[in-house]
Amino acid sequence: MERIVVTGGAVLEGEVEVPGAKNSVLKLMAASLLAEGRTVLRDVPGIVDVRIMAELLRRLGCVVEHDAAARTCAIDVPAEVGHRADYELVRAMRASISVLGPLTARVGRADVAVPGGDAIGSRGLDLHVEGLRAMGADVHVDHGYLVTEAPAGGLRGAEVALAFPSVGATENLLMAAVLARGRTVLSGVAREPEIDDLVDLLLAMGARISGRGGSELVVDGVDALSPAEHAVVPDRVVAGTWAYAAAITGGRVHVRGARPEHLVMALDKLREAGAEVEPTGTGILVQGPDRPRPVDVATLPYPGFPTDLQPFALALAAVADGSCVVTENLFEARFRFAHELERLGADLVVDGHHVLVRGRPGLSAAPVEASDIRAGAALVVAALRAEGTTAVHGVGHVDRGYEDVVAALRGLGADVRREVVEPAEALLPVD
Ligand code: EPZ
Repeated sequence: MERIVVTGGAVLEGEVEVPGAKNSVLKLMAASLLAEGRTVLRDVPGIVDVRIMAELLRRLGCVVEHDAAARTCAIDVPAEVGHRADYELVRAMRASISVLGPLTARVGRADVAVPGGDAIGSRGLDLHVEGLRAMGADVHVDHGYLVTEAPAGGLRGAEVALAFPSVGATENLLMAAVLARGRTVLSGVAREPEIDDLVDLLLAMGARISGRGGSELVVDGVDALSPAEHAVVPDRVVAGTWAYAAAITGGRVHVRGARPEHLVMALDKLREAGAEVEPTGTGILVQGPDRPRPVDVATLPYPGFPTDLQPFALALAAVADGSCVVTENLFEARFRFAHELERLGADLVVDGHHVLVRGRPGLSAAPVEASDIRAGAALVVAALRAEGTTAVHGVGHVDRGYEDVVAALRGLGADVRREVVEPAEALLPVD
């Protein structure tokens, strides 16, 4: 078993770089299925999820060259593509569902294992299904697989109003609509920067889309698309992670590659907490306060406060000089992390989708368990403010979304290491 061991006390200092976004690159890789030929992606993060998506595409018949050091991924898509996304891969990574739209549009059929819920919530798919049905697809579940079948002649354009600006549903329906016959109007769509990034790749592949960045996308289907080259948008969640880590430790960190315009609400909350946040032209410079002020936070779809930074807002609140409330509006089970933070001595009360936090001057070390990507990274960051040495377990989650979190933190002066332990030793106190 691997764990990350953190000895608290460091004030983070220095520069850290942000790679391309996990929550964009996975969909860009899926979008490559829409066109025969070689699509090349740059600024691709060297994370586990990219490797899982690469394996999924290989099983669909693609040749994938992922060079983690060069941060490139070249995908050669054949004329004949498979249509099945295995349970084993979908279980490992929910984002596998994003091949549903491209396969239904290009192959006329998709069999994608139903991902089910995960640590942060039930994660419905009804909006994906309703939208594909509106485009004429037959959609049903068969032995644990979501099966879609396009009508003869392929999907047809439709008016689809999303009841909730779901990121995943927007992406799947957009990738379905670009090859559908006629015009599709998607209203109430998600507006995350990762959606714009997908639109940019699809436009480069020859798609006809208008309304980029707004809550309505109009797509005029084309007969065929061509492969393209594209640089992945920087990861705003990773950038936010380092910005909050600087504020939580009272440090001074330059987050190179971060786009402040993609993090407006999150950075405003940091300023409210007493941090100085300066755009530098190549990123953002964050100077944390001696002691953060308490700040109420409520997660919302973009451009609201990102749910993926909620655990970091909670960790900030745990060491703030006063009380505040953190509200989670997107994922009903995303407060498991709060209970692990309590193990580090945080004073908080979870009440449904609110957490009341009474800030304390510091935390105290204890073994903790990561339940998902962001919870894991936030536990590592919170442990920097814990007196003593903390062991964070479940680090596989962290690797899914972060390139070498230990090296990044050591580069900022933190006393952090990764170690392999026998399962029997795992929960024993760390030497
Ligand atoms: C994406 O998930 C991200 N994942 C998530 O990041 C992120 O938290 C989320 O968007 C919101 O920003 C990837 O991009 C791989 P949604 P997604 O569809 O697409 C409900 C991380 O840590 N819903 O916008 O699954 C759903 O249950 C991850 O990087 C339906 O009810 O998010 C949820 O409550 C975690 N029916 C809400 O909408 C549907 O058909 C938001 O889900 C679709 C969604």
